[in-house]
Amino acid sequence: MTGHPLTTLPAWQALAAHAAALRDVHLRALFADDPDRFQRFSFTLGPLLADYSKQRVTGETMGLLMELARARGVEAGRAAMFAGARINTTENRAVLHVALRNRADRAMHVDGVDIMPEVRATRARMNAFAESIRAGAWLGATGKPIRHIVNVGIGGSHLGPMFVAEALKDYQRDDLSVAFVSNPDRAQMDDALKGLDPAATLFIIASKTFTTAETTYNAGIARQWIVDSLGEGAVGKHFAAISTNLKGAAAFGISADAVFPMWDWVGGRYSVWSAIGLAVVIACGPEAFDQLLAGAEAMDRHFETASLDQNLPVMLAMIGVWHADFLGAAALAVLPYDHRLRLLPAHLQQVDMESNGKGVMADGTPVLSSGPIIFGGGGSDSQHSFFQFLHQGPHPIPCDFIGALKGKDGTGPSRDLLLANMFAQTEALMRGRTVADLSATPPELQPHRMFSGNRSSTTLLLEELTAYALGMLIALYEHKVFVQGLIWGVNSFDQWGVELGKELAKSLEPALLNLKGAGAPLKNRDSSTAGLVAAYLKAKGVSA
Ligand code: F6P
Repeated sequence: MTGHPLTTLPAWQALAAHAAALRDVHLRALFADDPDRFQRFSFTLGPLLADYSKQRVTGETMGLLMELARARGVEAGRAAMFAGARINTTENRAVLHVALRNRADRAMHVDGVDIMPEVRATRARMNAFAESIRAGAWLGATGKPIRHIVNVGIGGSHLGPMFVAEALKDYQRDDLSVAFVSNPDRAQMDDALKGLDPAATLFIIASKTFTTAETTYNAGIARQWIVDSLGEGAVGKHFAAISTNLKGAAAFGISADAVFPMWDWVGGRYSVWSAIGLAVVIACGPEAFDQLLAGAEAMDRHFETASLDQNLPVMLAMIGVWHADFLGAAALAVLPYDHRLRLLPAHLQQVDMESNGKGVMADGTPVLSSGPIIFGGGGSDSQHSFFQFLHQGPHPIPCDFIGALKGKDGTGPSRDLLLANMFAQTEALMRGRTVADLSATPPELQPHRMFSGNRSSTTLLLEELTAYALGMLIALYEHKVFVQGLIWGVNSFDQWGVELGKELAKSLEPALLNLKGAGAPLKNRDSSTAGLVAAYLKAKGVSA
């Protein structure tokens, strides 16, 4: 797009010229020319090693990218977030998930009011509540201790806590089960409840708004399940809630001591650090959760204070911008080589795509580009599925490989196999295979067995998948997404794009329920939508 405010920046133009000059330079050559490339393009921060030497960048690329970051006001944007400015302009809200992991307890302000006392008080209440359940002191309506936790939520009220609870499974106790239900498809709730004793089950209704259709529907199913077996009076002992809508939670019948507040300065996809993480605190214990916060806090301090060129979230963000805007990559593959991290791609999909999947900049004018398509899955499984595309497909896609140096068997055989594969994949993507490597292959098969290589990846290696390292990892991606939003000029903290579908679903519901006057929602609708509704009504045995 010519004339866009981004493309007229000198730093942007310098990057465009540099990209043209680098077009025919292969990563193989970059490694061959610089034996210290790994040292120069890797970065260690606490238990986290980031290797970006297999990215198609040179020292000059990184320098120019940092110039662009400065020109786009990344330093000022970062300071504004930590200062509690209302940087979520379309919702007129501050963005302070960093306050939730501010264990140093320095004052953090919204409109001049220090929010830390409330954050601390809520954390103390969460911990006490979790401890009482873990100790068997919080009793269900029949006097039985709670042994099953079912988190009912969706989006950020589901993906974050589910991912973290799964990643920290080794911190969980065997006598306390935790399940996550998000889908209004009855199949998921039925699966989660199978074999559970209602008298020993606690539901956590996690919903920032307490109005989300899927969550209120599932909460109603859960409530009925408890009432059917224990009576109406049992609700107070078998439900907890996290919400900004305290009235909604009270109206549901949840007792005040089991309702935990949230604040409008915490976005749903950034909320696992808040009371939305309650299921994690109960399942893994307050200490593990505190370590998760400590890791995130360490990343926050680094992000807030390090110069841009020594700042890991900034470096990874700018490499993403390089791919999106100068190398033409529209996607990012997230590939955890660790069973416990297999839900990371789903969590990051929301963090990244709901934040930066925007069509206009904060001032309402069109974006030049914005966030990548995030997809991925457990590395080992994905190797035997879509990696074919990553290696030989026509659209090179940058990859993030994530792993831990130690696993369940330490540095034993399972890690040997896992990491050999992970490292080898990054090598194969980078090197490729040339005709010269294929001299023993019949000529007609050579094109099929060739790999172009020159495909970029970053490797993130944790010493071990501890709660602390996990906190660092999640916060790293959160800040990376924020920095990219600053570059592209979008508000990374609203999500208006999810509204239209919700509104249309609401207006269609009467037709699907076949309510009186249900024809009205179908008036002026396209023939496809009307035809689909008719097909459903036919299955239901009624006519449209
Ligand atoms: O529909 C999108 C969304 O608003 C997400 O941003 C949010 O994480 C999710 O729905 C759940 O919202 P709530 O926590 O209010 O139920």
